[in-house]
Amino acid sequence: MSSLLVDDIGELVTNDAVGGEGGPLGIRRDAALLVEDGRVAWVGPARDAPAADRRVDAGGGAVLPGFVDSHAHLVFAGDRAAEFAARMAGQPYTGGGIRTTVGATRAASDDELRATVRRLRDEALRQGTTTIEIKSGYGLTVADEARSLAIAAEVSEETTFLGAHVVPAEYADRPDDYVGLVCGPMLAAAAPHARWIDVFCERGAFDADHTRAILTCGQAAGLGVRVHANQLGPGPGVQLGVELGAASVDHCTHLTDADVDALASTRVDGGHTATVATLLPGAEFSTRSPYPDARRLLDAGVTVALATDCNPGSSYTSSMPFCLALAVREMRMTPAEAVWAATAGGARALRRDDVGVLRPGARADLVILDAPSHLHLAYRPGVPLIRQVLRNGVPK
Ligand code: NIG
Ligand code: FE
Repeated sequence: MSSLLVDDIGELVTNDAVGGEGGPLGIRRDAALLVEDGRVAWVGPARDAPAADRRVDAGGGAVLPGFVDSHAHLVFAGDRAAEFAARMAGQPYTGGGIRTTVGATRAASDDELRATVRRLRDEALRQGTTTIEIKSGYGLTVADEARSLAIAAEVSEETTFLGAHVVPAEYADRPDDYVGLVCGPMLAAAAPHARWIDVFCERGAFDADHTRAILTCGQAAGLGVRVHANQLGPGPGVQLGVELGAASVDHCTHLTDADVDALASTRVDGGHTATVATLLPGAEFSTRSPYPDARRLLDAGVTVALATDCNPGSSYTSSMPFCLALAVREMRMTPAEAVWAATAGGARALRRDDVGVLRPGARADLVILDAPSHLHLAYRPGVPLIRQVLRNGVPK
């Protein structure tokens, strides 16, 4: 069993606030961290550090849990740069471009899709993301959804069946038939490769009845629930997600007081909400839309996660530091809240307790910053501050 000691840490963010010490981020100073077999084996004062086979010198930089990006759409072909340019010249975002990407994705080979997924996963890893959820949703046939998920599952255990992204063109005049396909043969082919099911619940995509039907059959097939909810306008998605016990409702840009109350009502022991609100500021940035109000959710006691929504249409960024900086500047989050939401919050949105935290037993997924404190992630936006990433204790 080989061991590795990370020391000369400027500030260690553990997200393990034992007895409230170190604030909500559980910050330790003069700390060191021992890794054994890909797991955190020990955290404590540097002067008490055990001997180890190898050493990683953090050089006075801050050490944080790796980012947990709980919402990304990496399986696609082509890009939609022209659509982005049109938006920046005044066109609105409607989600209609999803069908453009569906066409390109269906035409792509497995190896082309695989190369894109791996390129984006590696891009995210270089920016500190050590866990990434990956959705299907640009295939929308039985075979294309199944292969999208099989390819996603090669690089992540957090895979999500999003056959209900939009109704594809060939079903445009018979959406009920498409819902039947999603709940029947498509779910059967997708479920072996997926942990979660998701629906784009929005005007122009899937209404409340369709969303409930699809999420319920996904649950019956053993998948956990997440929802794209209230992105482009108010709607039933958030409350439906709460009703069905969703791990996360994502976007949450247009919320009523009843939506916020419903989320807050899922509070469980320990003060977190069973349904997390996952905010995706890259989408508002890239569609030039108003940002969700994280402060309102946090003040109501709702657990908030931050994720990239990486996709070729509404948010073509894989950068958690970028999203974190947006959340601080535009969504009334403090830097500490944003760091927590991008690490521990993402873990909660995926119902994971082995990532997003640095305590004995957790996965040794961590980032070393080229900066002395977590504050610099928002304070120095756009600067590549990720000096080194360890995943499962292995330097990348
Ligand atoms: O989360 N809202 C639905 N799905 C994606 C957008 C996909 C696209 O435009 O291609 C999202 O924003
Ligand atoms: Fe999305």
